[in-house]
Amino acid sequence: AQIQKGAFAHFMQKEIYEQPESVVNTMRGRVNFDNHSVVLGGLRSQLSNIRRSRRIIFCACGTSFHSCIAVKGLFAELTDVPISVELASSFLDEQLPVFRDDVCVFVSQSGETKDTLLVLQYCKERGALCVGVTNTVGSTISRETHCGVHINAGPEISVASTKAYTSQFIALTMIALQLSDDNLSKMARRREIIDGLYRLSGDIRQVLTLEPQLKQIAQDLASEHHLILLARGYQTATCHEGSLKIKEVSYIHSESIAAGELKHGPLALIDSSMPVLLIMNKDRHYADTENAFKQVTARGGDPIVLCDCDDETPIFANSRTIRVPKTVDAIQGIVNIVPLQLLAYHMAVARGFDPDSPRNLAKSVTTA
Ligand code: G6P
Repeated sequence: AQIQKGAFAHFMQKEIYEQPESVVNTMRGRVNFDNHSVVLGGLRSQLSNIRRSRRIIFCACGTSFHSCIAVKGLFAELTDVPISVELASSFLDEQLPVFRDDVCVFVSQSGETKDTLLVLQYCKERGALCVGVTNTVGSTISRETHCGVHINAGPEISVASTKAYTSQFIALTMIALQLSDDNLSKMARRREIIDGLYRLSGDIRQVLTLEPQLKQIAQDLASEHHLILLARGYQTATCHEGSLKIKEVSYIHSESIAAGELKHGPLALIDSSMPVLLIMNKDRHYADTENAFKQVTARGGDPIVLCDCDDETPIFANSRTIRVPKTVDAIQGIVNIVPLQLLAYHMAVARGFDPDSPRNLAKSVTTA
C-alpha cells in the first residue's frame, strides 16, 4: 500500500512525529522493563561468539554512521571491549586489518548501501563475525551478515533519515545491554538505562511540543550562511547528526565540532556574526561544555543553548534556549536529536526548499 503523508506537509515531518511510536516498536518484545532484561532473537545463534570477540568494529555511512558514534562510549563501558567506528566509504581506502576474532557491525537503514556492502564482503573474507543492523527485512546486508537486528522503525520515505536514527541508536544500545547482562558489576548501570528507555517515548512526545519555538529559531537562522554546532562527550554524535540534517535539507553550511577541539583551530571562526548552537546537558561533561560556552561568548558569540528543561544556570540566563527533558546520559542523544530534526526541517521550509527531496541526494546509494 502506498504510504501517505496524512496531516503532515512532508514525509520528513511525518517521520519525525512518528518517533514516539517507532522507538517503542524497536524495543517491543525485546526489552523487559519489569525484570530489566534485553533479548534480541536475531543474535541468539551467535551470542557466545560475539561475547568472545577481541574487538568490535562499527561500520556505516551518513546518519547510520552517526548512530554508531553515538553508542561508542556506552559499548566500551558495558562490554570492556575495544571499539572502533569506521566510515564504510573510506574503510577500503585504508585497507584496515580485520581478524577472525573481530565482530563487525554493519548499520544501514536501507540495508543496500554499496559502500557498506563492500566492507561487509571484505570483513567476511577475513573471517570476522558480521552483524547487520538494518531497517529492511530481506535487504542485502541483512541476508549477507551472520546474524543481526531489525530496527523495526517502519518504512522511511524522506531522504533525510530521522526515525531510523533514533531506532538505530536504540537497537545498538539494546545490543550493548544484552552483551553485558552476564556482568554483575554493570547491573545498576544497565537498570538505569533500561528505565530511561521506558520513559523515552514520553520524553520525545514532550520535545515535539517545542515545534513552534523551533520554527521561530529556524526562521531566525534561515538567512544565515553558516552554523556551528558544538558539544562534548555523548552529545558529539548529536551535533554531527544535527549538522548533517541541516546541510542536507536547508543547504546551509553547518559544521559540527567536538567542543574540546575549539581551541585547536575552530575558535578562529568565532565572532559576533557566527551562529553557534551548543548542546549542554547536565552530564559529566557539563563543566567542560560551560567552558566552551565561555570561549564562544568571550569572542562575541551568542550561542543558542540546548539544555535540560530544569537547568537554571545563570551563565546562559540571557541566551536563547531549547529545553528538553532530562534522561540518562547515554541515551540523552535520542531525545536531543528530535529538536534538531525539527529545526532542520523548518530551516528548509523557511528557505523555500522541499525537505523531502534535497538536491543531489538519494535515499539509498547503491553505487560505490
Ligand atoms: C544516503 C542517504 C543518507 C543515509 C546514508 C546511509 O547517503 O541519503 O540519509 O544516512 O545513505 O544509508 P543507509 O541506508 O546505509 O543507512
